[in-house]
Amino acid sequence: MQMGIDVGYGQVKGVSEKGKKVIFPSLVAPLTKGPLENDMKHKVFIQCSSVSMRESAVGDGARYSKLIQQLSGQEKPTEAHDILLLTAIALLAEDTKEPISLGVGLPLAYYAAQKDQLKQRLSCMAGKVSVDGSLQHQVSFSRVEVFPQGTGAIAASGIDYSSSGRIGLIDIGTYTTDFVLLEIENGRKSFIPDGCGSREIGAYQLFESLDKAFQAKAGMPLPIREYSRTLDNALQQKPLCFDGKEIHLHKTLEYAMEELTDSVMSQVRAVWGDWARFLDYTILAGGGSVVLHDRLKNKLSNPVMAKDPVFANAWGYLEYVKAS
Ligand SMILES: Nc1ncnc2c1ncn2[C@@H]1O[C@H](COP(=O)(O)OP(=O)(O)OP(=O)(O)O)[C@@H](O)[C@H]1O
Ligand SMILES: [Mg+2]
Repeated sequence: MQMGIDVGYGQVKGVSEKGKKVIFPSLVAPLTKGPLENDMKHKVFIQCSSVSMRESAVGDGARYSKLIQQLSGQEKPTEAHDILLLTAIALLAEDTKEPISLGVGLPLAYYAAQKDQLKQRLSCMAGKVSVDGSLQHQVSFSRVEVFPQGTGAIAASGIDYSSSGRIGLIDIGTYTTDFVLLEIENGRKSFIPDGCGSREIGAYQLFESLDKAFQAKAGMPLPIREYSRTLDNALQQKPLCFDGKEIHLHKTLEYAMEELTDSVMSQVRAVWGDWARFLDYTILAGGGSVVLHDRLKNKLSNPVMAKDPVFANAWGYLEYVKAS
């Protein structure tokens, strides 16, 4: 079975050749036993050499643990990465017993240094996974391909490659923003190396601003588990209830979105220079683009939102695996 999985710093996104999609926050914690453990999404049991934590809470189910682990740092911690990946595979595979052809990605900045190691490590991986009480799924790979993050979103953008032109892509994630420049001549694609790169900016800056403003009003840091709910509330101009009082954060968010937009645009100028002005399309992908779209659209040449912006890389990895 063919799958494309994007293990992002903020969320895991996966798609299968059958069109099934899964998404969950990139959070892992040891499983807390108790009367509610069977309601937890996701309760995961893994037997695999790279994973010592056999029973874990993954995604939303990990939010309430004090021992929550996020993905952070340039190299994603192997154990947490593999738990997230195997959870996505088990959710996508359902009861399929076929070996898996998997497409995954790495941020462009780390691609050259880490791609061979990641491919080799995943290719040799085999294990048993059960999610939310499902039957144990025996995972093994017939093929693993690693692609540069961002290029996946271009493949899935729906843009017609039969003609000629120049395309830019900006993928705004949680911790990383990837830039890709691509030239197409008579259907042949070539990446412009100087116009491709990653910067460590993303939606996390919004969470940091919300956290600071919350701390100033509430006298304690905003717990990680509350980040995405706080962002959603602030986007809808809804207050957060804390100690029976309402805390309004939408003005803070507006300001933080302006700052993040300026920061993305200054990186666009740094990475693309005046190429940014000679583009037939600028494709926007990643969850950060969903949030910043209205602000970015007037600052870019012919901006187009990717078809399914949050899943764009995962769809692209799947397309590449199908074609290779
Ligand atoms: N549909 C949406 N509406 C609003 N916000 C969203 C949406 N999807 C994602 N986000 C926000 O955008 C952020 C970035 O999402 P995305 O899935 O692109 O990041 P990621 O791929 O996990 O991060 P990275 O690319 O840095 O590894 C998320 O942290 C989330 O808060
Ligand atoms: Mg991403």
